[in-house]
Amino acid sequence: MSSSVIVGTQWGDEGKGKIIDIMAKEADLVVRSSGGNNAGHTVVHGNEVYKLHLLPSGILYPETICLIGSGVVVDPSVLLEEITEMNKRGVTCDNLRIDARADIIMPWHRELDKLEEEYKAKQTSVNVGTTGRGIGPAYTDKARRIAIRMYDLCHPELLKTLIKNTGEFENLMIEKLYGGKAFDLDAVYEEYKAYGEKLKKYMADGSVIAFEAYKEGKKVLFEGAQATLLDIDFGTYPFVTSSHPIAGGACIGTGIGPKMIDEVIGVGKSYTTRVGNGPFPTELNDALGELIRNRGGEFGTTTGRPRRTGWFDAVIMRHAVRVNGLTALAINKFDTLSGIGKLKVCTAYKKSDGTILNDFPVTLEELSDCTPVYEEFDGYEGDISDCRKFEELPEKCREYISRLEELCGCPIKIIGVGAGCDSVIFR
Ligand code: IMP
Repeated sequence: MSSSVIVGTQWGDEGKGKIIDIMAKEADLVVRSSGGNNAGHTVVHGNEVYKLHLLPSGILYPETICLIGSGVVVDPSVLLEEITEMNKRGVTCDNLRIDARADIIMPWHRELDKLEEEYKAKQTSVNVGTTGRGIGPAYTDKARRIAIRMYDLCHPELLKTLIKNTGEFENLMIEKLYGGKAFDLDAVYEEYKAYGEKLKKYMADGSVIAFEAYKEGKKVLFEGAQATLLDIDFGTYPFVTSSHPIAGGACIGTGIGPKMIDEVIGVGKSYTTRVGNGPFPTELNDALGELIRNRGGEFGTTTGRPRRTGWFDAVIMRHAVRVNGLTALAINKFDTLSGIGKLKVCTAYKKSDGTILNDFPVTLEELSDCTPVYEEFDGYEGDISDCRKFEELPEKCREYISRLEELCGCPIKIIGVGAGCDSVIFR
């Protein structure tokens, strides 16, 4: 296999960073193709823990080219902070490339993200619960065709004109619509011009880099951010992010054709978590949910928010298998469930009129009307973090995994048994 896409199968935070990091060691090119610094990937290397938001995970390997593709929205201040932090820890980041088409997060995007959320909360009491990083407003400007792109950031004269034109429009929205405070556009220009000077050396044509790497038979890894249920079309709209985290997004956000993807690995957890608002059928609003949250360390990498927790949901996983065309699953955190007693898995949904749904509903209204149909399992016990072969796992754990595969219709080829990079079973 020469090209692989890694996607999240649930609502994010499935431990993609760990799987990506394992695969990045072998890759010649690692690509981020969607989202921005709303993502947070924790990579553990020996005793070192790296928290990455924008830099592709392969950045730790100097020989691996790391591309931020055109589909990513880049906050240059965050990216530069991350690069500086990496430099301090001895990672040069000379292997970084940024597509000239990538859109830039401007300060008004962060402000509008906050103002829009406050407005929605006041008007309808239902806001999205965004990460507040300006992601939605940046993608809105892209679709509106007024975004400032990486190329513009690195060309001061162009940048000046664009900041003036776009900035006036954004200031109008901030002041007139939300009663906020307008930005000083000259100051924004000076700040962003300086970012452009520092980032210029990384600018490239990502589509060409990816195409040539693939043609030369190199190993290309598309590093997913966010997850299937946060996809703007196939997620739980409107409680989604503003990009395409599903596998097809790797093509759009890099500039490559679908035939260049050989393998799609869906990463999930042995239970389900969600950050932000919106329906969550298997949610555990009780002491068990709290126990799973604490044992699994379920607090946001980006925002520190406690994550909502619930049982594994095979309806969601079948949806992920379908919309991403998954060829394999990597399921993490089987260690978290060890010793907690009986386990449940949601196999289907039941609507209030008694109808059974095997497929994930299209609308939020329908999803809100669904209660889970559960299958119960004997739990497993003991420390499984040292297991490196499937056969070494407790029998009940193996039975649980085999049944998950049946219910999801996809082989579980990677089994996470602990936090460390090597705490993994490959089958
Ligand atoms: P936004 O991407 O900041 O606009 O947030 C939209 C929704 O996606 C919110 O519910 C966020 O909590 C969620 N979200 C965005 N990025 C991530 C992620 O990397 N992991 C988990 N949830 C995320």
